[in-house]
Amino acid sequence: MSRPVFFLLCAGLVGCLIGCSSNGPSPQYLIGVSQCSDDAWRQRMNYELQRELIFHPELTLHTRHASDNSEIQCQQIDSFIAERVDLLIVSPNEAEEVKPAVSRAYDAGIPVIVADRQVSGEKWTAFIGGDNYAVGQLMAQWLLSIVPEGRPLRVLEIQGLLGSTPMVWRHKGMMDGLQGHPEVQIVASACGAWFRENARVVTDSLLTLYPDIDAIVAQNDQMAIGAYEACNKKSPFTGRFLGRKSPRIMGVDGIVGKGGGVEALLKGEIDMTATYPSRGDLVIQTAVKILHGEPFEREVVLPTVLIDHDAAFPMQQIADEIDRQIAVLEELENRYNRLWDTTRAQRIALILLVFFLLLLVVLAVVLYRVYRYSLRVKREREESARIVAQQQKQLEDMTAALERTKAEQSVDERFVEQLQNTIERHLNDSEFSVESLSEEMNMSRAQLFRKTKTLMGVSPVELIRHIRLRKAKQMLLNTDMTIQQVAYSVGFTSPSYFSKCYRELFGSLPTAREK
Ligand code: FRU
Repeated sequence: MSRPVFFLLCAGLVGCLIGCSSNGPSPQYLIGVSQCSDDAWRQRMNYELQRELIFHPELTLHTRHASDNSEIQCQQIDSFIAERVDLLIVSPNEAEEVKPAVSRAYDAGIPVIVADRQVSGEKWTAFIGGDNYAVGQLMAQWLLSIVPEGRPLRVLEIQGLLGSTPMVWRHKGMMDGLQGHPEVQIVASACGAWFRENARVVTDSLLTLYPDIDAIVAQNDQMAIGAYEACNKKSPFTGRFLGRKSPRIMGVDGIVGKGGGVEALLKGEIDMTATYPSRGDLVIQTAVKILHGEPFEREVVLPTVLIDHDAAFPMQQIADEIDRQIAVLEELENRYNRLWDTTRAQRIALILLVFFLLLLVVLAVVLYRVYRYSLRVKREREESARIVAQQQKQLEDMTAALERTKAEQSVDERFVEQLQNTIERHLNDSEFSVESLSEEMNMSRAQLFRKTKTLMGVSPVELIRHIRLRKAKQMLLNTDMTIQQVAYSVGFTSPSYFSKCYRELFGSLPTAREK
């Protein structure tokens, strides 16, 4: 396996690992939630917002509540702007006071969803909230339904925070609903600023001023419960409504659960409430549409209905049932999440396993190739060492042979020299024969024959003759001697035989001496 293939394999596996261990790169959004307060109604809304995130894991909510203080809320909105949230959900404490901060967010390009309470101006992206005017009209409707026979209904109104839009519109709705109905008299309107304790205190003092009132309309259930507490206070006002029924009380919100309006209805503390839905789920759905650039409804006004004591019980039952179902769904969600985590972990483990197995295979291949290569190198080294040794041996053999040959040669050379000298010494002796030569050389005729034949390729007779003739040739060339004189001086007894032998050896007659 070549190196690029190996790296490609690794890169592919790592990519696959990363790809499989996450759900792909989907954009993440941060949403700032600015709540004006932190009462039960807000908590329910926050819960609905959070619960809807099950379907939108790409969203993260950062929630802050301003403790019913508009200045604090403006600061909190500014810090959301600084954090560059992708979207702002705001429930303004007061419409006018919170407007500048909301406008700043809007101008900074942050989409703004106004929820429940409204804000002054037009710098917001969407609005989702209850129909406060309709809530006021339901109050009027209820008041008209309890007017006693023959005399007007005397009513105390406990209002929410001045400057908040629900306070304004609930009051307006009620007053419009009571138009042309002098039988309902609003004897006093006081501010409870949405708080139970405030409502208890103001109701207490108003009851001293107007001890004969028939009904109290509070703009939320918490203030309605506060008013009830004031009406039913023991000492020093025990017996406040001697002989008469205590005032009938209506609130708004209709929250089910501990301390909510429905529980107060069931306990008989209040007589009527109107639902005021929070629909956090719808708020998140709208946020998602805005973030994804999809079409959305700019203004959603949520409907409201009256709930009396009779409706409270089934409502409580239904709400309990829904809570049970939600608990089941939440448990299922937890299990699903756990299962998902486990499968993801298993998937990652599997991929890692495959990855390491492949790595092992690659390593094994590499190791095998390294092993094969080292074997080959070893074999080649051994082979060349063998060849070197062989050549060395050959060289040594050759050197030894050379030495031997040299020695032998020098013996032979000396022999040949001795042989020639002996023959040359007896050159003019025509009697000098092979017998006399072998005697002088101290060897038998047979030995001499073998040796001259081996070393010089001629027999001793031929050798003697050739040496005589070569000497004769020199003499013929270098002296003025006659052919006869030369023939005799090199041991020939017959000049004609000399000429014959001469021609045999040199290819020409001695007469051609001058050439
Ligand atoms: C909660 C609350 C509710 C009321 C609403 C009006 O903060 O006071 O009781 O219906 O706000 O905005």
